[in-house]
Amino acid sequence: MTIGVPKEIKIGETRVSLTPNLCRRVIALGGDVLFEKGAGRSAGFTDDEYKAAGATVVASAARVWKESDFILKVKEPQAGEFALMQEGQTLFTYLHLAACPELAKELCRKNILGIAYETVEGADGSFPLLKPMSQVAGRLSIQIGAYRLQSQLGGSGVLLGGIPGSMPGHVVVIGAGNSGAHAVQMAVGMGARVTVLDLDTRKLEALDQEYRGRVVTLMSNPANIASEVADADLLIGAVLIPAARAPIVVSRKVVRQMRPGSVIVDIAIDQGGCVETIRPTSHEEPTYEEHGVIHYAVPNMPALVGRTSTMGLTQATEPFIALMVQKGVERALVEHPGLGRGVNTRGGRITYDAVALALGFEA
Ligand SMILES: NC(=O)c1ccc[n+]([C@@H]2O[C@H](COP(=O)([O-])OP(=O)(O)OC[C@H]3O[C@@H](n4cnc5c(N)ncnc54)[C@H](O)[C@@H]3O)[C@@H](O)[C@H]2O)c1
Repeated sequence: MTIGVPKEIKIGETRVSLTPNLCRRVIALGGDVLFEKGAGRSAGFTDDEYKAAGATVVASAARVWKESDFILKVKEPQAGEFALMQEGQTLFTYLHLAACPELAKELCRKNILGIAYETVEGADGSFPLLKPMSQVAGRLSIQIGAYRLQSQLGGSGVLLGGIPGSMPGHVVVIGAGNSGAHAVQMAVGMGARVTVLDLDTRKLEALDQEYRGRVVTLMSNPANIASEVADADLLIGAVLIPAARAPIVVSRKVVRQMRPGSVIVDIAIDQGGCVETIRPTSHEEPTYEEHGVIHYAVPNMPALVGRTSTMGLTQATEPFIALMVQKGVERALVEHPGLGRGVNTRGGRITYDAVALALGFEA
């Protein structure tokens, strides 16, 4: 099996789908790797490291796509890559087809076996290839929020950890899942006053036990959200209802109650965002101000830390890649039903019900 690794071309993307160590393992398992020159650079890996690991490094993306039966990527193919996709090829990457009808059509037209990172399931029904990126976004959200609170950037000038004799900043996290729990951990580490809200009492109990009173846990309801958000220096939106648009949990009216220069980081923006005043931003222009509050809503935050995100992503994809190289793709999909759940397109059809439904295609 020849595994092709093209350089990511989505604007601002810095991750790569294969590290030199994983490349070495793939080759030891009997695969070949065709790697596009410079594809690892923004994640801190040189072409020489891939060559030393046994990859063939080539200058053109077109050659990688043409000569590989299995394409390994990070982001969904961009419009400029559609023409490069080869009939019958296997593609393993984040696909997010519900948001990309043109790509879905193209994958069907070219008979591509499209295996989406985001729908691969663990034995417990969790999504192991989403988790590490949520952890990255959760941890980053506090670092970004702390920076945006600085006076010179239009923030309120609050230092999250405060100093002895002064009030620390108040961080309010809505959603205590993968990203929310990691935001809480970073906020506590910085010495902030932290409140976390969720609908799931088990999540709140786990955080209460872990932080032993150091973090306030509250049920997510309109009254608690209104009072906590009005007092927040930094609000983190981290809710998710799987496969659905994020619910709006913070209304415009509540945002208006926040102090001037306070900051909102809505991690859930990739599912539409959970704050009424939020709209997507980009790495080029990450923030805007509304009602005196700074809003940050970049949908691909992990690209800010290409190295860590690459390590996190590839350590999660490694067992699935290894299985497919060892057993062949078809056998791996049968033997590992969770990997099989990753199949979104096959034989010219959308095969994942929720995606077909969202696109109005026949599954
Ligand atoms: N912006 C980015 O770069 C980026 C990166 C990674 C993940 N994400 C997104 O972050 C979001 C959160 O992901 P996650 O992995 O943490 O999800 P998760 O499923 O682990 O956690 C979501 C939590 O939200 C809670 N929740 C649902 N409705 C709620 C409500 N009304 N009030 C309070 N809590 C509620 C759930 O009980 C759950 O605990 C997703 O949309 C994910 O796609 C964004």
